[in-house]
Amino acid sequence: MHRQRKSTLNAYTSTVATSAEGAQAFPIPDNVFAETVTEVRHYTDRLFRFRTTRPASFRFRSGEFVMIGLPNAERPVFRAYSVASPAWDDELEFFSIKVPGGPLTEYLQKVKIGDTILMRKKPTGTLVIDALLPGKRLYLLSTGTGVAPFASLIRDPDVYEKFDEVILVQTCREVAELAYARELYDEVANHEFLGELAAGKLRLYDSATREPYPRQGRITDLIDSGKLFSDLGVPPFDPATDRAMICGSMAMIKDTKDRLEHFGLVEGANNAPNTFVVERAFVG
Ligand SMILES: Cc1cc2nc3c(=O)[nH]c(=O)nc-3n(C[C@H](O)[C@H](O)[C@H](O)COP(=O)(O)OP(=O)(O)OC[C@H]3O[C@@H](n4cnc5c(N)ncnc54)[C@H](O)[C@@H]3O)c2cc1C
Ligand SMILES: NC(=O)c1ccc[n+]([C@@H]2O[C@H](COP(=O)([O-])OP(=O)(O)OC[C@H]3O[C@@H](n4cnc5c(N)ncnc54)[C@H](OP(=O)(O)O)[C@@H]3O)[C@@H](O)[C@H]2O)c1
Repeated sequence: MHRQRKSTLNAYTSTVATSAEGAQAFPIPDNVFAETVTEVRHYTDRLFRFRTTRPASFRFRSGEFVMIGLPNAERPVFRAYSVASPAWDDELEFFSIKVPGGPLTEYLQKVKIGDTILMRKKPTGTLVIDALLPGKRLYLLSTGTGVAPFASLIRDPDVYEKFDEVILVQTCREVAELAYARELYDEVANHEFLGELAAGKLRLYDSATREPYPRQGRITDLIDSGKLFSDLGVPPFDPATDRAMICGSMAMIKDTKDRLEHFGLVEGANNAPNTFVVERAFVG
């Protein structure tokens, strides 16, 4: 109810908006949602998250991505962003990189509560539960901001109804970059309803590659050495029971995919569900 009222207001009043820099107002392009930033939190000088209002008519599946931009130009730059919040949430959450001089993030990193974010209307993506065959153990394998779609999935009750075990894996260069996923894990564990559903099912396995940390090294090396499995106390990947999603750089996806295929898992898609799916966290 609350959500619908806010979005109706947006539809009628957001014909112009101030840019993140607040310098000049530009008209809102046709066929995009104009949403209001409700919260911003910076984790490091490279990573931050922000939340926005959600249009009542915007429907998506947990794990999908949308194109977002800023009203700071006549023809704004749009970039793909995983929706980090789950499908049931009244608001939308995004977890973002800050690329120095990046056409979008140079400005996006400066957004404040009350600023306007543009969002194209159609979500899409392969990191959805429907693209996997039923299984017992779900691995969510990520590096860096590749954790964003999994931030959505680990907050979706459906995931705990479909899997006995959900293992969130994130590798980053630096320890401080692991904070968002740690915070999410705690949020789920302490959540009024999700906490009970996820209890004994959700596990977090994070590692750092360029700073000392209890778990050290790339996910690919941790798979090759068997350390991932021995640390978790589970058998190696088994296509009969295990399902996986991968989100990271192109190189990380290729190398991780090779490992899954070595164990007999097969890549699936929305129209052909199978035992694992992949999506790029960024291009380049
Ligand atoms: C399907 C998909 C989903 C995405 N979801 C997210 C998301 O949830 N959060 C997010 O921050 N980005 C995400 N991205 C990347 C995002 O679309 C932009 O590339 C990013 O916001 C930077 O935009 P930019 O215009 O500032 O720089 P760009 O011109 O887009 O990028 C400049 C360079 O910065 C590096 N880079 C870009 N994005 C990242 C990143 N996320 N992590 C590390 N290095 C990066 C790359 O080397 C790239 O060539 C996603 C990309 C794809 C394809
Ligand atoms: N993170 C930073 O502090 C930092 C600072 C300045 C600039 N940048 C730039 O930002 C871009 C993205 O950096 P990022 O740290 O977000 O992403 P990234 O380079 O993809 O690294 C994220 C994590 O993934 C690991 N990784 C990289 N390639 C992999 C592969 N093929 N298989 C398995 N794991 C892999 C990295 O380990 P390794 O550490 O072993 O590579 C790191 O722990 C880079 O182009 C970088 O030049 C990053």
